[in-house]
Amino acid sequence: MTDTVRHHDAEKPETKKENQPSWLKEGSTDSEEVADFYDTWAETYDEHLKDWDYRAPTYVAELLKQYVSTEQAILDAGCGTGLAGKALHLAGYENISGIDISATSLNKADQLNVYSSLLAHDLQQPLPFHGNNYNALICIGVLTYIENCQSLFKEFCRIVKPGGHIAFSQRSDLFDARNFPDTIATLEQEGVWENIKISSPQAYLPKNKDFSDKVQAIFCICKVV
Ligand SMILES: C[S@@+](CC[C@H](N)C(=O)[O-])C[C@H]1O[C@@H](n2cnc3c(N)ncnc32)[C@H](O)[C@@H]1O
Repeated sequence: MTDTVRHHDAEKPETKKENQPSWLKEGSTDSEEVADFYDTWAETYDEHLKDWDYRAPTYVAELLKQYVSTEQAILDAGCGTGLAGKALHLAGYENISGIDISATSLNKADQLNVYSSLLAHDLQQPLPFHGNNYNALICIGVLTYIENCQSLFKEFCRIVKPGGHIAFSQRSDLFDARNFPDTIATLEQEGVWENIKISSPQAYLPKNKDFSDKVQAIFCICKVV
């Protein structure tokens, strides 16, 4: 457990809130550290995200609605406590599965009764699915924690049917820093997917002092070839 995680002290909620953003802003691609962090935060995650006016779940549900009909099977990759699943459910989606590395977050997601299945798994390892049983996949607020997004995107395209859609977000400060335009274009050139849309930067955590209008979210949607 890292020092930052130890600051998640139940007796000091204000201190906890003060200390979380620095880790959040910095991020990590160490899966074990990330799992510890989100396990420790799971109980109060929804409350904090609500305080920070987290907009991504609603945004992605509205985006998906333009391309994916509500009976389609969707995988929420990095579902966490289920905020995006809840938004999809409210938008009418009925066949949603979730996968995440944080078992404690998955327990919270399970309590929502919006997921037909939930699985604990590290997205930095090959995905534990044979065949392409999904019509769509969302990955929201997760890619900060992934070292090799190109490999993960290829895995996403392996498990989503041709013609299906993959929607993901990346922080505006990491989009260019981690070569997302190149990665998206390379996979298009390789005939893996077709890019449908890259959004302008959108409000992400507008009421969090570290993010506010400095770090926004860029949403992309690609169609599997
Ligand atoms: C900011 S939260 C977003 C959760 C959810 N998508 C949402 O919008 O509220 C990031 C999530 O990514 C998950 N995550 C990060 N790295 C992961 C990995 N390597 N494998 C699986 N899940 C991961 C975390 O456990 C956490 O639940």
